Amino acid sequence: TTRHRIALIPGDGIGTEVLPPACAVLDAVGRRHGLDFTYDTFDWSCQRYVTEGAMMPEGGLDRIRHHDAVLLGAVGWPTVPDHVSLWGLLIPIRRQFQQYVNLRPIKVLDGVPSPVARATPDVDFVVVRENVEGEYSEIGGRLNRGFPTEMAVQEAIFTRQGTERILDYAFAIARTRRGELVSATKSNGIVHTMPFWDELVREAGARFPEVSWRQEHIDALVAKVVLDPSRFDVIVASNLFGDILSDLAAAVAGSIGIAPAANLNPERDHPSMFEPVHGSAPDIAGQGSANPLGAIWCASMMLDHLGHPEAATEVFDAFASTLATADARTADLGGTATTKEFTDLVLQALTRH
Ligand code: NAD
Ligand code: IPM
Ligand code: MN
Repeated sequence: TTRHRIALIPGDGIGTEVLPPACAVLDAVGRRHGLDFTYDTFDWSCQRYVTEGAMMPEGGLDRIRHHDAVLLGAVGWPTVPDHVSLWGLLIPIRRQFQQYVNLRPIKVLDGVPSPVARATPDVDFVVVRENVEGEYSEIGGRLNRGFPTEMAVQEAIFTRQGTERILDYAFAIARTRRGELVSATKSNGIVHTMPFWDELVREAGARFPEVSWRQEHIDALVAKVVLDPSRFDVIVASNLFGDILSDLAAAVAGSIGIAPAANLNPERDHPSMFEPVHGSAPDIAGQGSANPLGAIWCASMMLDHLGHPEAATEVFDAFASTLATADARTADLGGTATTKEFTDLVLQALTRH
């Protein structure tokens, strides 16, 4: 038996509804592959913030530093400003654990209608999002509060090291796929950081002669992703652009409830974190209707990361076949299945294997 210790942070809203399905799937596939998961659950959330004054306790990250991986639902709730909840939990985890790759695969799955008319069935690409720097920076401030000259300034930080490592990661992934990479920038409008990124893409391209790459402006690129998503293989983007692009791409593939994300620490000197792309969805929280597929797909990515590719594929095949055959769709996909009904069908598909 191989044992893994997983830190669970359900968080807020539907985060708490989609993690139990992911764990049930991990346990079920684990039984078939000799994997034993131990979960330590942390109540770090907006609710904790309201009662204790902090999203997580002092030294919180030291409590999850030695786990094999972190599985997170979602954080954020209307009673706490979003920048407070996210900078109090999610963003520190990504940064302190150097999870500088945010890998977000997009696939149109059988049985999931793409709401985009011209989408073709062979949509299969991955957004590689820079995850620790760029536009998400603490540098800046508010000046002249209350005066007509009031202003807010926010710096974007693109380091050579931080950019090169995400580009190298993206090119390396492209080499194992169809060998096509698109870099998303806005170098016609943002004159310092984005041309620098483009320059580093050219350099990285020279290191990966097998990969054919091109630069596209993010505004034109998003339109192409909507109209013709099957032309993409790997899209690499900065923190903010990758964030926006991944919700857009997830919706093109059916629903943002489907999309998984792996916050990877490629050096493996800290745990990586797996979390669905979606948030806490306060509008549907508590109804038992959330789509748990994003979280279940995260479990599959986590299995892969932990060195169990066959188990990962089994989970993928189980949810893909569930969507394709049964009337298993949750409300976001136009169906009537509840979170639990969908999860049970995936569990059945797993054991049928
Ligand atoms: P959201 O992803 O929570 O919701 C957007 C829309 O998609 C809503 O209509 C919601 O009902 C729907 N949706 C999302 N996930 C779904 C699922 N699994 N099944 C069915 N429908 C689903 O985005 P938002 O409304 O912008 O953010 C809500 C809160 O979540 C905010 O506080 C935000 O900061 C936070 N957030 C957290 C994370 C995270 O922790 N990783 C990610 C994104 C947003
Ligand atoms: C995501 C989320 C977060 C991000 C927010 C909640 C800070 O949107 O994981 O995609 O922008 O990284
Ligand atoms: Mn996002």
